[in-house]
Amino acid sequence: MRVGVLTGGGDCPGLNAVIRGIVRQGINNYGDEIVGFRYGWKGPIENITMPLTLDNTRGILHRGGTILRSSRTNPFKIEGGVQKILDNMEANKIDCLIPIGGEDTLGAANKLHAEGVSVIGVPKTIDNDLSGTDYTFGFDTAVNIAMEAIDRCHSTGESHDRTIVVEVMGRHAGWIALHAGLAGGADVTLIPEFPFDMDEVISHLQHRHSKEGVDFSIVVVAEGAVPKEGGSFATVGDGELDAFGHVRLGGIAQALEKEIESRTGFETRSTVLGHIQRGGSPTAFDRVLGSRFGVAAIDAMHDGERGKMVALRGADIKLVELAEAVGTLKVVPPELYDVAKVFFG
Ligand code: F6P
Repeated sequence: MRVGVLTGGGDCPGLNAVIRGIVRQGINNYGDEIVGFRYGWKGPIENITMPLTLDNTRGILHRGGTILRSSRTNPFKIEGGVQKILDNMEANKIDCLIPIGGEDTLGAANKLHAEGVSVIGVPKTIDNDLSGTDYTFGFDTAVNIAMEAIDRCHSTGESHDRTIVVEVMGRHAGWIALHAGLAGGADVTLIPEFPFDMDEVISHLQHRHSKEGVDFSIVVVAEGAVPKEGGSFATVGDGELDAFGHVRLGGIAQALEKEIESRTGFETRSTVLGHIQRGGSPTAFDRVLGSRFGVAAIDAMHDGERGKMVALRGADIKLVELAEAVGTLKVVPPELYDVAKVFFG
C-alpha cells in the first residue's frame, strides 16, 4: 500500500517516534511505501512531499519536533483546499493517510474522511485534551519539563522569600498545570475548567505564609485560566486568531504577579515556560507511546479500518471513531482538581 503521513498543529515531543513506528512497521512487515506530506495540511494541499524510508527515519527516536515539519493550516479555510487534497491523494496514489495531530488536525481529518479521504488518525498534543484516548504522547514530556521548572522555582523562591507564578500551556484544558502542579508541589494551581476567585487565591497564600518559617509560595497557572469575576485577567493575550479560530494566549502569570504582590505585600515574580514545554527530547513514556501508536496505525490500516483513531485505553492500544475523539474536548474532571486543592495554602 502507499501510505501518506503528516504532522499538523503545534509540534510535540514523540512525533518522530510515531513516524519511525509507521515506517518500520509499514515497510518491514507489509512492504508499504510511505510518503511524507510536509507542513501539516499544507503538504497535501500544495503537494509538498518527501519519501519516508528506513534510512531517513533512522536516529530520530530521541529527537524532538517533527522531521516532516508542521503548520496550523486549515484545509477548510483555503479556497479549493479539500479538492486539492483529493487530487493530490490520487496523484500520489495514496491508499490511506495517517494524520498525526490534535483536535484541529484530526477535526479536519474527520471532515475529510466524510469527503472521501481514507484516514487513520494518531492523537498528538502536549495539552492531553483529546477525547477517546487516556493520554496523548508529548503530555508526559511537557509535564516533566514543567515539574522540573517548578522545582527550580522552589529553590530560588525560598532563597528570596518570594512567591513565584509559573505559567504553563493549556488553552482550554488544565492537564499540564494540574499534573505539573501536583508533581511539583504547587501551593495554588489555576486551570481553565474552574474559573478562579482571586480572593481565595490571596487567602490561600496568606494562610500559607502565616505558618512559622514559611515565606515563599508557588502558584501554577494554565495560560487559559480565567477569573470568576472577569476583568483584566480575562483579557490577556494579543487577541490574534489562528486558522482554527483559537486566540493566542499569554500574560496571565504577569497579571497575577502584580495582583498578588499588591494585595499581599509578598514579593512576587512570574515566569512563562512557553514553548520550552514542547521542545526537545521526549520522555521514555512518550517514545514508547508514540512508537506503539505508529505501529498500531499501520496495523489498523491493513485491517481495513478507516475513519478511526488509535488510542490508549488503560494499558492497551485500541481504535476509536475519529468523530468521537474530536467531538468534545477532554477536560480535567472536578474530582481530580479536588485532589490538587488538598495541597493549596
Ligand atoms: O497545541 C498546543 C499548544 O501548545 C497550546 O497549549 C498552546 O496554547 C498553543 O499550542 C500555542 O500555539 P503556538 O505554538 O502556535 O503559539
